[in-house]
Amino acid sequence: MGTITLINNETGKSYEFDLIDCTRGPKAINFSKLFETTGIFSYDPGYGSTAGCESTISYIDGKKGELLYKGIPIEDLVMHYSFSDICKFLISGDLPKNEQESLEFDLELRHRGFLHEKLKRMFDVFPDRAHPMATLSALVSVLSTLYVDYKDEGDTDDYQTMARRIIGKIPTMVAYCYRNSVGAPFIQPDISKSYIENFLYMLRGYPHSRLKHTIYGEQEISELEIKALNKILILHADHGQNASTTTVRNVASTGVHPYAAISSGISALWGPVHGGANEKVLRQLNEIGDVKNVDKFIARAKDKNDSFRLMGFGHRVYKNYDPRAKVLKTLKDELDQQGIKMDSYLSDIAQKVEEVALSDDYFKERGLYPNVDFYSGIILTALKIPTELFTPIFVMGRMPGWCAQLIEHNKNPHARITRPRQVYLGK
Ligand code: CMC
Repeated sequence: MGTITLINNETGKSYEFDLIDCTRGPKAINFSKLFETTGIFSYDPGYGSTAGCESTISYIDGKKGELLYKGIPIEDLVMHYSFSDICKFLISGDLPKNEQESLEFDLELRHRGFLHEKLKRMFDVFPDRAHPMATLSALVSVLSTLYVDYKDEGDTDDYQTMARRIIGKIPTMVAYCYRNSVGAPFIQPDISKSYIENFLYMLRGYPHSRLKHTIYGEQEISELEIKALNKILILHADHGQNASTTTVRNVASTGVHPYAAISSGISALWGPVHGGANEKVLRQLNEIGDVKNVDKFIARAKDKNDSFRLMGFGHRVYKNYDPRAKVLKTLKDELDQQGIKMDSYLSDIAQKVEEVALSDDYFKERGLYPNVDFYSGIILTALKIPTELFTPIFVMGRMPGWCAQLIEHNKNPHARITRPRQVYLGK
């Protein structure tokens, strides 16, 4: 462990601070006693240079364009594991050792997929046009009124149960948000179906139908669709201390119910520059409308007098191609070849946008590359997922990450309430 010296040029005094060696990535200055030692605090709006916690869950190398969950590259995880395996991995620390363990965990999630009858009735209070992210955030908060058994904060089992329960229920809640918004009756979870298949079934199926769940003509839920959704969810499972995860940790730091903290995370994720970008990308591709208009929109994105931003481009940490976007781009092409056809109108515009942006100095100088949201919407559209469910699907994917972060926060005896300072410039 090294040290770093800070010299106050006004007083000539110098102060030494420890450097923390991270197991990967750059060192950090331990500034936790900065104020006590120097009487001065640090200013870092947006926390671009500040670590708020220690974590062992995911690691991002923004220069290389690399993302690891517990030390394993996401590219390996999407090849060999299901989303429920990754949920188990993140919240308990272990990947399933064999198929039996994998199935048992998936089965536990399926059994936890049913919603309390009172919660189901609450869907009625939301207008048809309510955005599902608002409904989800509200209903996850309501879960805290139904499940009060998290109370023993020192008991890790309570937090495990809390995590498994909400991971199990969130697909049902997402599917019901959609069905409620179109006036369709709810479909009970079917525990004979895997976690992902069950979600697609609850989203699309006809209740009590002898036909095979066919809201779109005779189409069944294919293995290929299940595989694709598994991959998409795995890619969203955790991502360091992004805005929504930080929100979950900040709210949890006050000692509130874990589902209240997760509800706040859902609200944070909804924002268009965070998880809401996947929905905005699709709307923006439609707004561009034709490959011949791409140059005009790229010019707008570069114009400092225009608030227009290219959605699905840029990232605080990645200054290289987002590895999640790389996997999704390949997945998009594979699915297209294997029979899940992409909308060529959207695909062609997206490809042109990427081509023009990546050869433009403005984007090159700022390290602006496609992020996870750039291609996910095109694939979700091909999977017949309604556009307003894109961000709720992100919620489904991120749920194990938020739960793992909550468990980690809860286990840390040194965790303190989040309480930043301010640079006061008022009267
Ligand atoms: N289009 C045009 N210019 C951009 C874009 C963009 N999408 N993103 C960043 N820039 C410019 C920005 O104007 C600034 O230029 P300058 O240095 O001349 O002032 C420079 O690049 C740095 O941008 P920043 O806003 O300081 O970067 P940030 O780290 O604060 O913001 C971001 C990161 C993701 C919010 C931003 O890149 C953005 O708004 N992107 C579009 C929305 C989006 O796709 N969000 C999804 C992020 S990935 C999923 C997730 O984790 O939530």
